[in-house]
Amino acid sequence: MTKDIKIKLKFSTYSKEDLMQMEPGPLRALLHERTHHRIEVPLYPVLLEAESRKISSFGDQAQLVFDVWRERGFPEDAPDIQWVKQYLDIAKKIRAGEKVHWEEPISTPFASEEMEVVNKLIYERRSCREWIDKEIPDEMIEKILDAGRAAPNGCNLNLVRFIVIKDPAEANMVWSDISTENAVIIVICYDERSRQVVGQDRSVPQNAGFDAAAAADHMLLMAHALGLGGVWLTCTKDTAKSFKEQYGLPDYIEVALHIAIGWPAIGTKKSLRMPLEDMMIRRNT
Ligand SMILES: Cc1cc2nc3c(=O)[nH]c(=O)nc-3n(C[C@H](O)[C@H](O)[C@H](O)COP(=O)(O)O)c2cc1C
Repeated sequence: MTKDIKIKLKFSTYSKEDLMQMEPGPLRALLHERTHHRIEVPLYPVLLEAESRKISSFGDQAQLVFDVWRERGFPEDAPDIQWVKQYLDIAKKIRAGEKVHWEEPISTPFASEEMEVVNKLIYERRSCREWIDKEIPDEMIEKILDAGRAAPNGCNLNLVRFIVIKDPAEANMVWSDISTENAVIIVICYDERSRQVVGQDRSVPQNAGFDAAAAADHMLLMAHALGLGGVWLTCTKDTAKSFKEQYGLPDYIEVALHIAIGWPAIGTKKSLRMPLEDMMIRRNT
């Protein structure tokens, strides 16, 4: 059913032949993006309609990208591809005018003891800039990286990439205004090809940095919950470029920012913010 369909984006159009030639990384990003924009986003209003409605082109562009993914023999077991497949199954039903059975739970408020944990996490996290010489177990690093992976990201493109630096010689390649001795550094990058293929570099160039920032925040919260102390470290265009060159990253990987995490050497005073009133531009009361 998908053979004559073309993938139409703001800045590019791809035929099936184009997709057959595309590198797997960008193809996967395109698969995420088409699933997001052509199924996930328009789906929910359709689900809320009283009667099932047949929409003959629903999700067909995502289906074409997936058909190519499968035809080229790329793996289907990763969670992002499973996510795509779930939405493709639903889209197929909508194209056929069949009823979609929907069982996803609606979120409910946290119980008060759960809320205490949330408050502890949000309001007690603080930046830490001095660490003791004590190794962070790999399982903790995995938990921190995984928290970054779970962060929101534009169009679910999955373009954020991580580098974990434990080796002091490599740590020297990362510019910082503080000493990061005893800290593990996580450099948060993004794959330029994954955003170029969908035109995000032209339409929403800020999003890749936002994706990296969201990942950093999730990681710092997880580090805090594990009893570790972390800090976000600024990366200028020049320091990012210098790291990229020294570390030998491929052209298509861009460095967004880095964080340093370790076992705190001293408790940090929590920095406080302006009153909310002073931050408000307008409150719709
Ligand atoms: C975009 C950004 C850049 C930052 N850059 C640095 C930095 O280069 N060096 C540093 O020590 N802290 C840096 N920080 C940490 C901030 O100084 C810190 O979050 C802020 O002072 C609030 O303190 P808190 O994290 O303890 O709540 C940065 C934070 C953000 C969000």
